[in-house]
Amino acid sequence: MSKEIFEQPEVLANTLEGRLASLSILRASFGENALQMFGQIKQIQIVACGTSYHAGLVAKCWIEKFANLPVDVQFASEISSKEAYISKFDLVLAVTQSGETYDTLQSVKLAKKAGARVFTITNVKDSAITKISDYVFYTKCGFEIGVASTKCFTSQLGALLLLSIYLSTARNMLNKEKRKEVLNNLRKIPDYMENYLTNNLEKIKRIAKKYYRTKSMLFLGKGYNFPIALEAALKLKEISYIYAEGYASGEMKHGPIALIDKKMPTVVIAPNDNNNKKIMSNAQEINAREGKIILLTPESSNELANHTISIPDHIEDYLLPFITILPLQLLSYYIALFKGNDIDQPRNLAKTVTVE
Ligand code: AGP
Repeated sequence: MSKEIFEQPEVLANTLEGRLASLSILRASFGENALQMFGQIKQIQIVACGTSYHAGLVAKCWIEKFANLPVDVQFASEISSKEAYISKFDLVLAVTQSGETYDTLQSVKLAKKAGARVFTITNVKDSAITKISDYVFYTKCGFEIGVASTKCFTSQLGALLLLSIYLSTARNMLNKEKRKEVLNNLRKIPDYMENYLTNNLEKIKRIAKKYYRTKSMLFLGKGYNFPIALEAALKLKEISYIYAEGYASGEMKHGPIALIDKKMPTVVIAPNDNNNKKIMSNAQEINAREGKIILLTPESSNELANHTISIPDHIEDYLLPFITILPLQLLSYYIALFKGNDIDQPRNLAKTVTVE
């Protein structure tokens, strides 16, 4: 898992390689009628499980921002007998690194039966899902050994952001300049990730050493970083066996704040974006109840935080998920390491869930 965390910059660069010129790629990847097909889509249903579901939640933000299309994201296991529901969607977007997850396969079979077109983002060539999809877009992230997904998550994000740009291109939602700007910004992300992983390890290790005995941990995020809070909580659960929950930061006051006491550590993802004030007021509420705060912030310190973990403030908000997930993958990894757990093969887990 450690190796795969540090492979992410190179893996993302590989996912993006040769795909950062949307129009020509659209036709090359999905056929001459791709532009027309993408241009006709009115709404999208994303189906996925686990980490792939969290990638789908980030994609919802991107597709709605860049392509101005309504997107629904559902756990594949929840799409039981909703054929009528599914046929309403012009495109079902399946996200699955293995391409063999039972629940995701079942939801795609339902979608096909309901007459919807299926676009799949997967990592495994000729996997079961590729046989029943209308379009397949490979993440090309190489074989992922760790049961807890890391490099496949960030490469799914890369593929999903590319798809969002392709959709916006087909719908003439982004002019050429803006499209080039977004693709150029995305092109720089692997280097930013490399830089981040090189410069922030020691502090994250120290924080993990302090909290590896905690009984629970909360993760708060807003906007693009709400799915990152969910993914971070899943990572911690999977490899440290510590109970963790990801929450939309604005939801704290609707109940979860009752959990806060001086033993409860809360990770708060607080980039310098237009959500910062609201997120810091949530942090204030936690601080007022003696909760311990681990703040992901561009600031070097903050009076509300017991610990700060640096995140950059020069990256566009829509690209920050590629960075904010890194310290949280590492935090979970080091906590599990200090606990002496089997990190690559955690108890009770399988790499691919091929049963219902
Ligand atoms: C990720 O850390 C988990 N191991 C799990 O949630 C996984 O993401 C889920 O089972 C979906 O797998 P898939 O992407 O292969 O469909």
